[in-house]
Formats: sequence, structure tokens, C-alpha cells
Amino acid sequence: MTKVFVLNGPNLGRLGSREPEIYGSTDWPGLVGKVEAKAAQLGIIAEVRQTDSEAELISWLHEAVDEGVDVILNPAAFTHYSYAVRDAATMITKSGRKLIEVHLSNPHSREEFRHTSVISGVATGVIAGFGVDSYLLALTQLV
Ligand code: DQA
Repeated sequence: MTKVFVLNGPNLGRLGSREPEIYGSTDWPGLVGKVEAKAAQLGIIAEVRQTDSEAELISWLHEAVDEGVDVILNPAAFTHYSYAVRDAATMITKSGRKLIEVHLSNPHSREEFRHTSVISGVATGVIAGFGVDSYLLALTQLV
């Protein structure tokens, strides 16, 4: 069965209690459950991971390149400044795999510093602003 990685950056493990007016009331286990269920419905496997560590996130992107799997990536705050995550993300798309950048919120309607994504320029596409549905839309697009 086709596998995709659904990789998540810092503070996303706090969903549910973290600014629910922005990120919604679904908690982290709830998000994982919804993503896994949608993937199963589409006939694929979603491997969902979250880390607060930039190094760990980069190692997972390397793993995706080595395994040849597509990636759905919510880089969280790394979106706005991590050239290291961008360089790792570049390897995904350069290797011919897809990388969809997702966000729960719409960063463009928020603070100025969130208007810049250093990831979008190397992503296959971007889906933002639809809460957990951003992830489900990305899964549908990959399939
Ligand atoms: C986020 C948006 C980022 O600006 C923020 O730092 C996050 C979450 C989102 O999913 O809306 O942690 O990526």
C-alpha cells in the first residue's frame, strides 16, 4: 500500500489547548485519527509524526527522500525562518516526489512575520486556512 508521511513541526502536539480560536478544538490525537481515517478511506497509509526539534524534522525529510514517499508538511513556526527545513524539503521535490505544505490557520491573515514562508517556494503546493481539513484536502490531492 502507498505510504505518505504527514510531518508536523513545533507546538502542534499542543493542539486542542493551544489557541483554539485559531487552531480549532481538535487535539493532537484527534488530528492523527482524522488523517489516518481519511488515508484509509483513500486506500493509502499515512504515517503521522510531530516534533518540536528542527533536527528531527529534517531527519524525517531525509528519510522520505530515501524511501521515495510523498510528504504533507506543516512546518509550524519553522515555515517562516528555517532555511535548513527548506533545503531538506527541496530534496523531496527535486527527487520527483510531492511535498504539500499545509497550515491549519491562514498565515496570510495573521501577523506580518507569518506572511513569509521559506518553504512554499520549494513545495508542490500549499493548502492553508481550513483547519484539519487542510490535511484531508492534501491527502485527496496526493491520491
Ligand atoms: C501553523 C501556522 C504557523 O504560523 C504557526 O507558527 C504554527 C501553526 C498553522 O498550522 O496554522 O505553529 O503552521
